[in-house]
Amino acid sequence: MPTTPIYMDHHATTPVEPRVLAAMLPFFTEVFGNAASKDHEFGYQASHAVEQARAQVAALVGARPDEIIFTSGATESDNLALFGVAERYADRGDHIITCVTEHKAILDAAKRLEAQGRRVSYLGVDQYGQIDLDELRAAITPQTVLISIMAANNEIGTLAPLAAIGQIARDHGVLFHTDATQAAGYVPLDVQQMQIDLLSLSAHKMYGPKGVGALYVRRSGPRVRVAPQIYGGGHERGMRSGTLNVPGIVGLGAAAEIARREMKQQAAQLRARTAQLFAGLQQRIAGVALNGHPSERLPHNLNIYIPGVESRAFIAGLKDLAVATGSACTSASVEPSHVISALGFGEERAHRSLRFGLGRSNDAAQVDAAIAIVARRAAELRAMIAAA
Ligand SMILES: Cc1ncc(COP(=O)(O)O)c(C=O)c1O
Repeated sequence: MPTTPIYMDHHATTPVEPRVLAAMLPFFTEVFGNAASKDHEFGYQASHAVEQARAQVAALVGARPDEIIFTSGATESDNLALFGVAERYADRGDHIITCVTEHKAILDAAKRLEAQGRRVSYLGVDQYGQIDLDELRAAITPQTVLISIMAANNEIGTLAPLAAIGQIARDHGVLFHTDATQAAGYVPLDVQQMQIDLLSLSAHKMYGPKGVGALYVRRSGPRVRVAPQIYGGGHERGMRSGTLNVPGIVGLGAAAEIARREMKQQAAQLRARTAQLFAGLQQRIAGVALNGHPSERLPHNLNIYIPGVESRAFIAGLKDLAVATGSACTSASVEPSHVISALGFGEERAHRSLRFGLGRSNDAAQVDAAIAIVARRAAELRAMIAAA
């Protein structure tokens, strides 16, 4: 029996992997220089490490190192992309297009743009969580400056047809941003082939540290510019001021390098484990259904609907398994997931869904144990409902 609790919430965050931590450690104590202080060896060494990390992150997405801007995480990258493009291209237009199932880092930034008088179109999704490309084409106007569509959904794992969206954006002379926070390191990304102009990613979803991320900003064909949202010393080519988080950036670089080298093998393993989990749950619990796309999905995501099993009740008191519900508690109420609600099955399903995010440490024995835990808990809850 594997030790518990079993962690299956890797979409929320991942542990820092030992090789990443080992790469970071010297930069807290020995090599502590400010990467902008290049008058001496301390600063030079820090700067050298940052540039190495920039190249490692660039390689993960097919970019050039000088197209990578380091940030405090994907929330900041998303905000910089939306606000930065809206501001910089204000003379070209005031309209952006995004999607109802985006992360709040996009949706709340988009709401802020609307409050400032810009116009935002929110595309709906089909039952699998994908946008309709004809609807996207139809939404583009001469005032559209940006399309922002996430690469992979953080709840249901559905992948977007990035290359097709990139082509549509390019055909219409509109910039294309993708929030690749959940996709980076798990599925191949190539900003050239997919014609992506801006891309957000975060270290802590791929076994790097929390509080560090990056925004890719295309430098040629076309040259993209974003208006800075943080002013100061002109770091990161003036797009994001502030003393660089050198240990964090080194960690992001190391995580990106490992993810790139091991992606194929890791993805195959994760895909096998999520298939094992889904098959086991279907076998043990009547009526279990998949949320999201059956094939166009992240290798480590499984989001399921369990009829009759309310997800908040499911996790209440559940100590031996860490999974996420499809709902978020606000101070006043339990809000159903905006993602599952958008799939068109009704709110009931959004309250009865569980998200599993598998990781490198989840072996076959842990998956079997998780199946048993979920099946037992679902049976208990169903029995309680039947007795009531
Ligand atoms: C799709 C997506 N975008 C953005 C974020 C925010 O990332 P960070 O925690 O690095 O700010 C997350 C994290 O939950 C995410 O899943």
